[in-house]
Amino acid sequence: MKILITGAAGFIGFHLSRLLASNGIEVVGIDSLNEYYPVRLKLDRLNELKQYKSFSFKTINICDKEALDVLFENERFSTVINLAAQAGVRYSIDKPYKYIDSNLIGFINVLEACRNNPVKHLIYASSSSVYGNSNDIPFSTNDRTDEPVSLYAATKKSNELMAHSYAHLYNIPITGLRFFTVYGPWGRPDMAYFSFTKKILKGDKIEVFNEGNMERDFTYIDDIVNAIEKLIDLPFDKNGEQEKPYRLFNIGNNKPVKLMDFISTLEKHIGKQAIKEFLPMQKGDVYRTYADISDLEERINFTPATSIDRGLKHFIDWYTKYYSG
Ligand SMILES: NC(=O)c1ccc[n+]([C@@H]2O[C@H](COP(=O)([O-])OP(=O)(O)OC[C@H]3O[C@@H](n4cnc5c(N)ncnc54)[C@H](O)[C@@H]3O)[C@@H](O)[C@H]2O)c1
Repeated sequence: MKILITGAAGFIGFHLSRLLASNGIEVVGIDSLNEYYPVRLKLDRLNELKQYKSFSFKTINICDKEALDVLFENERFSTVINLAAQAGVRYSIDKPYKYIDSNLIGFINVLEACRNNPVKHLIYASSSSVYGNSNDIPFSTNDRTDEPVSLYAATKKSNELMAHSYAHLYNIPITGLRFFTVYGPWGRPDMAYFSFTKKILKGDKIEVFNEGNMERDFTYIDDIVNAIEKLIDLPFDKNGEQEKPYRLFNIGNNKPVKLMDFISTLEKHIGKQAIKEFLPMQKGDVYRTYADISDLEERINFTPATSIDRGLKHFIDWYTKYYSG
């Protein structure tokens, strides 16, 4: 088994690479090391991965079709896990073409590479943002998802449609994963739990959007990567019946947390009150996310094990250690 992880220097890619490589699985990681957030953090994650002999890394942009094709021809991957993307909802308002490049052009390059160099399984990252401002909770993969409220969400929905067509046309077994607000150590500086922590520690004010009336189904990173590991070899036939080679799962915590409760938990673990500035809703944001995870429960016995209290404590512990060094 040889696995390609794209976006391996990113938050989820790093944790997944570490989990798989520590279990002796051969992992090739690629990443463009873009400057969306400090490259230092990406390099430090890669530095952590150096200790694993079964992990190797190349700086490759998935938009570079030629480089990707050469890599696939040389390495002959059994599984590909595509996590490389331009993430973030708010940035897609300012930099729409970054999303078109990495999330659409890059994604078709990955699909084409899998078409030309057959793999046993392609897993790719989608997002809870495809549910837009749906009021049907919890969000189920059977719900309609044709009203995205950001370009980021529109590119993730496009990925799902593109992947479905390639699974159908070329019989490539493909699994799409709709992640719900993933957080934890080595996380993403653009996300609220990270930037709030930085600001609270410095005594700067935090911006609380929609007057604090929001809910997120925060999902701890270990729960996410443990589930992905189980999915790698999960057969496509269910109860002996051959399914089509395409499936889509929510991976969330199934326990939405109110924004103000989340801030209180951060304050408790940091040991300091936040200075809050209450602001209206931001363009592109959604009010609530809440994952129905019954499919994943049924298929891999998925039960998120980490409470927001424990997960945020792990994050704060990591943050204070990382930035004190
Ligand atoms: N973290 C979350 O809460 C969350 C939620 C929903 C979906 N997702 C999706 O999960 C995936 C991983 O997210 P993350 O939180 O680890 O983000 P991240 O930004 O930390 O990781 C993405 C990595 O991909 C790399 N990358 C971007 N464009 C690339 C390109 N064209 N070629 C090669 N590498 C490229 C970046 O340098 C980065 O290291 C993304 O697809 C993201 O959209 C994440």
